[in-house]
Amino acid sequence: MGFLQKDKQKEDDSTDYIAATNTDVNSPLRQIAATKKKRYGAAVDGEFLFKEKDYADLIARECSIVTPNGELKWNATEPQPGKFTFESADAIANFCQKNNIALHGHTLFWHMGNPDWLPYPPTLEMIQRHVTGVMGHYRNSPVLKSWDIANEIIADNENETDDPTYGLRRGVKPELIRDLFKFAASVDPTKKFYLNDYGIEGATWRSSRFLKMVEYLKNSGAKIDGAGIQSHLWFSTAYGFDATGFSSVLKRLNDLGVKPVITELDIIIDTPLPDSIQKLDQMVADGYKRFLDICFAADVDTVITWGITDRHTWIRHPDWMPKKTYRDNPSVWQFLRPLPFDENLQPKLARNAIAQAFMQAP
Ligand code: G3I
Repeated sequence: MGFLQKDKQKEDDSTDYIAATNTDVNSPLRQIAATKKKRYGAAVDGEFLFKEKDYADLIARECSIVTPNGELKWNATEPQPGKFTFESADAIANFCQKNNIALHGHTLFWHMGNPDWLPYPPTLEMIQRHVTGVMGHYRNSPVLKSWDIANEIIADNENETDDPTYGLRRGVKPELIRDLFKFAASVDPTKKFYLNDYGIEGATWRSSRFLKMVEYLKNSGAKIDGAGIQSHLWFSTAYGFDATGFSSVLKRLNDLGVKPVITELDIIIDTPLPDSIQKLDQMVADGYKRFLDICFAADVDTVITWGITDRHTWIRHPDWMPKKTYRDNPSVWQFLRPLPFDENLQPKLARNAIAQAFMQAP
């Protein structure tokens, strides 16, 4: 039965590609992306997906892949030791199946989004129980195609690690991550496995440690298919984007045979802020185009934005709003417009820029 469902999904993908032949810049992004055999998608929040029909319709129309904002994190799937709940994640998986959307699983191992009882890092036994429970549940899923096996294992900066080689968060050993990847492959080798992280979009301390870790996993014989490049980007007229450094990161990953995938893209504008929303939206759009051109030149085939509408962007949530530039200054909150559609789900210049980048991709 599992196999039949998988074949059906394959057919559905090809229908998407066939339907994509007559597209223009205003076509759904999933169709424009399909003309280049690529996928566009977004992180979705189940809390809104099943309450706001306009939001659900937008996701179904635009996305050929989605990732749950929080429904597959440890606190959602294993809130008590050994007690698994998949109600909210399954609801998203069913939405995906109904709308012919692939599901990217985020995430099996992170230092956040955890229940209070879980230490960081968890013991290997806890990891094995968790991976068995969660990956096992989706083993025969016709929509779940890939996992962020580990998320943000590199320390935030070099002062917060005891590990000069791999720069891992305190307490995390490379062998634990290797064992996690190897165990995951024993549970379900049919999915794509990613190591996912932020702050690697340039030649930075974090990107160099991340690449070392990818290399280590490869050399240890672990299954690692992709590198999730989150891409929560900050653009500003006060500083540049390290395009050359980012291209080298992408090239190195391709050389290692580990496919770069954009997993959490959004664009925040840093000070000095422009004097109008129109100018801000243009800056965000230019940022998307510039960034995606570099990605597509390196053959990236999957782009997931972290949300689709400014209505639900994480960066406007009080827990996450950047303190200095925005939270301390309520008069500029309306400048947090990092996504392709606005609060009213109207397309922004950024949507156009994403469409253009897909259309011009080699
Ligand atoms: O579920 C409660 C809800 O019942 C309550 O009304 C609301 C009040 O604020 O809080 C809700 O919980 C929030 C949860 O997201 C669900 O929306 C938490 O406060 C909030 O802290 C939590 O934040 C999420 C965060 O990861 C931690 O899990 C963000 O939405 C989510 O966008 C963010 O995503 C991360 C990626 O996983 C990894 N990369 C960075 C990215 C952005 O931080």
